[in-house]
Order: sequence, then C-alpha cells, then structure tokens
Amino acid sequence: MSTNIVWHEASINKSERREKNKHHSFILWFTGLSASGKSSIANAVARALFERGNQTFVLDGDNIRHGLNKNLGFDEESRKENIRRIGEVSKLFIEGGQIVLTAFISPYKDDRHVVRALVADDEFVEVYVKCSIEECERRDPKGLYKKARNEEIKNFTGISAPYEAPDNPEIVVDSEKFSIEECTEQIIKFLIEKEYIK
Ligand code: PPS
Repeated sequence: MSTNIVWHEASINKSERREKNKHHSFILWFTGLSASGKSSIANAVARALFERGNQTFVLDGDNIRHGLNKNLGFDEESRKENIRRIGEVSKLFIEGGQIVLTAFISPYKDDRHVVRALVADDEFVEVYVKCSIEECERRDPKGLYKKARNEEIKNFTGISAPYEAPDNPEIVVDSEKFSIEECTEQIIKFLIEKEYIK
C-alpha cells in the first residue's frame, strides 16, 4: 500500500458524463470456460450497444494478457491479480461514462465478488456464459484443451484448474443451445427490461 498519496477529484464527474452520453455506465462481466464464447458474445453485445448509440469498450482476457497483464500467469494468485486489475480498470471506465464489457474466465467466485463490491449495485451485471466442458473441449479453437490433456499446459481451467460457476448471476446465456446472435438478443432484452439502457 502506498503512503503519502492524496485523492484528486476529477474536473468532470461520472454523472456529468452519463448525462452527456445519455446512458448509464456499468460493467457487463462475462465469465465462463475457455471457448465458451465469452469474447464472441461480449463483442457482439458491444456492437449491438454501439449501434443503439451507447459508448462501449471490451476488455478481453487474451488481449489484456498481451499488455497490461503480460507479467501474469495462470496460477491462482496470478488469476486473482488479473481480475483485481481488471476490476480497477473497469471502475475507471465506469467513471468515464462507458459500458465496459469484460471477457475473462474469472474462475473464482471470490475474485468476481471483489469486483462486484468495488462498484455500486447497479454498476455490475454478471453474465454467465454456460457451456459444458465437453462442448468447449470439442470446439477447442486454439488447441489448448488438447495441450492441457497432454499436460503441455498446466493449471488449465476445467481440466487441471477449477471453474466456479456463479450462483446468482444477473444473466445466464447458454452458448451450447443458442447462437451468438440469440445470446446477444437475450442480453440486450435484459438490459432494456431492467432499464440499464433505453
Ligand atoms: S483468468 O482465469 O480470468 O485469469 O483467464 P483470462 O485472463 O481470461 O485468460 C484466459 C485465456 O488465456 C488462454 N490460456 C488459458 N486459459 C485457462 N487456463 C490456462 N492455463 C490458460 N493458458 C492460456 C486461453 O486462450 C484463454 O482464452 P479464452 O478466450 O478464455 O479461451
């Protein structure tokens, strides 16, 4: 923890930005196994929101691990730190008036709760992208499940590391039964019904 630091108020606050953007700002937190469809659905939702006139930004696990979090691995502590940083970055996006969509496996309930607790109740929407391990392994778009089975990758979620599904997510989309477009529609419908967006 740093000492001798003082918080500075910004000249433009969150309410002003929301008023100017004409929409609420919040996190759509996607969680699910590797290859469950988190990134594809998050990007499709971002596009749909954007076309409805909303300011959006997607933070994606694979991409963030190329830069901001390139020093982190996949052991429990590293994943915890990964999610903690993304929580803090997402909070900044909320301050900036954006709808931020995050696509991280985020396998631990506790870590997701830490992010939920970091922001207001109406600023965190958890989206569980439900897909069985069998189907994710069948898809295996990056060949990672195969490597994990051959023990070429350690700590692989669902194979040699845990995934804790959410108990009470705001939204569950079943990417095994429904297409990306159908999952996207379901999420947009929820956001309109609950008055997150118009
Ligand atoms: S986490 O658990 O939230 O910190 O993971 P995340 O930052 O989302 O990164 C997941 C992507 O990294 C690739 N990858 C692995 N995933 C799981 N376990 C291990 N050991 C691993 N090694 C590399 C994988 O491509 C994940 O991408 P997605 O898009 O989820 O398939």
